Amino acid sequence: MAKILEDISRTFAEYLLIPRLTRRDQHIDAIDLSAPLSREGVQGQEKLSMNIPIVSACMQAVSGTDLAVALARQGGLSMIFCSQSIESQVDMVKKVKAHKAGFVTSGANIKPDASLRSVLELMNASGHSTIPVTTDGSPHGNFVGLITDQDFWEFEDNLDNLVQAHMTAKADVIYGEEGITLREANQLLHRHKKDCLPILSLEGRLSALVFKKDYVDHQMHPLEILDDNKRLRVGAAINTHDYQDRVPALIEAGADVLCFDSSDGFTEFQMDGVAWIREQFGPDIVIGGGNVVSAEGFDYLAMSGLVDFIKVGIGGGSICITREQKGVGRGQASALLEVAARRDAYFEETGVYVPLCSDGGLANDTQIVMALAMGADFVMMGRYFAMTEESPTSKISINGQMYKPYWGEGTLRAQNWQRYSEGMSSRKMVFEEGVDAFVPLVGTVAEVLETTLHKLKSTMMNLGADNLSSFKEQAVITLVSEQSIVEAGTSNVFKFSRNRDADESDWGN
Ligand code: IMP
Repeated sequence: MAKILEDISRTFAEYLLIPRLTRRDQHIDAIDLSAPLSREGVQGQEKLSMNIPIVSACMQAVSGTDLAVALARQGGLSMIFCSQSIESQVDMVKKVKAHKAGFVTSGANIKPDASLRSVLELMNASGHSTIPVTTDGSPHGNFVGLITDQDFWEFEDNLDNLVQAHMTAKADVIYGEEGITLREANQLLHRHKKDCLPILSLEGRLSALVFKKDYVDHQMHPLEILDDNKRLRVGAAINTHDYQDRVPALIEAGADVLCFDSSDGFTEFQMDGVAWIREQFGPDIVIGGGNVVSAEGFDYLAMSGLVDFIKVGIGGGSICITREQKGVGRGQASALLEVAARRDAYFEETGVYVPLCSDGGLANDTQIVMALAMGADFVMMGRYFAMTEESPTSKISINGQMYKPYWGEGTLRAQNWQRYSEGMSSRKMVFEEGVDAFVPLVGTVAEVLETTLHKLKSTMMNLGADNLSSFKEQAVITLVSEQSIVEAGTSNVFKFSRNRDADESDWGN
């Protein structure tokens, strides 16, 4: 006969945190929200972490290029979806990596004998107001000067004039030499009051450009996560079917993290995939496994010693109908509590700490807070990000309210059969495990995160926690009765206008 667990399958909404001592020396701005992505306690492996404990889901309606850029700039990470061709996923990863580097390869260049008219066209097409002039008009050609929109007047100068008659010639341009650090380049920009610094090779070829606006931008995003070459970090989803082709291409494109996108990761297929990647690419590439909902599933993936973080959650996603369709899954809180307890025991036994990601089903900011208190190191969300300006879908207006489409990977629309058929031969979706829906547009990634993270820090203050690891240690959690859930709302008052905070906190429910 089947084994029946004694515990009920529970959700985050059934729990509350009990306040602990808030210390006089605590300050909300000093709270550290950094979260590990790689295993800790493994000798010789490089460590990777984020500055906020949030990643976006491996989904078509969520993790595209714009969202990946916006989230990395806020300190989190996107997992670019894998339910697309290898080429287009690689292209997205490359775009994120190219988005902002201290040293940028010049995208718009011109020859000295081109006309001002063609400079104007190039400026309009590229949106750039500073154009390097190289002998052959290529990004790495011999550098001869710079032309900007200040060097000629569109309605005064003859647009048939040649670039070389209007440009600032190399002899008068302040430039840096290849090998210079970004700090030194910014110092040159500052000292000479310039907006753009060309970097030249010893032979005088254009190597890159450094912009003042990028420096300013960086100061305004102090939490952004960057790699050693000052490029934004990005994750990429992978599946158990084509990893031998997809993974090398993604690593070559610069993906910083690989994340298995599977509804059930407690499989030998996933283990084969992880083992293959480790064998080919060594210990430093960060690999996320999952999803699991039990200590047994955690042990299977963790004990291999091959995965970095493990995702927890089956059937809780806002667009998910897996539990209805297949009778498989577990309340997200119960799953997380069991896996986190096992993870902590595993750490005691081995000295290896495996970060956990709570994936799906977070309906509001309070539930993010609860997931982190219960033992998740970071959370993965789909709906939360689908509702932002930067998600890769178009806005539509319904009855005067703006919405965005949001669909599951298990829908006929997404056709992500790889996520649901580990080891199965059918290469199509036989039945759906997700729905195709709309969500309200709530604002930009920066705006929604500002509220969420402020609430998280505020709760951490209540618990006397300075960082997320002390938050877990300090957390004392109680189950709530149905009556105390009623008590948690307002009672016996008339509300005439909805308050903006409440609107945001339930994310449009
Ligand atoms: P959300 O944050 O509640 O919207 O949940 C997002 C999570 O749902 C994803 O990270 C996946 O783990 C999961 N998911 C994505 N698509 C589907 C689907 O079609 N069916 C079931 N779960 C899905």
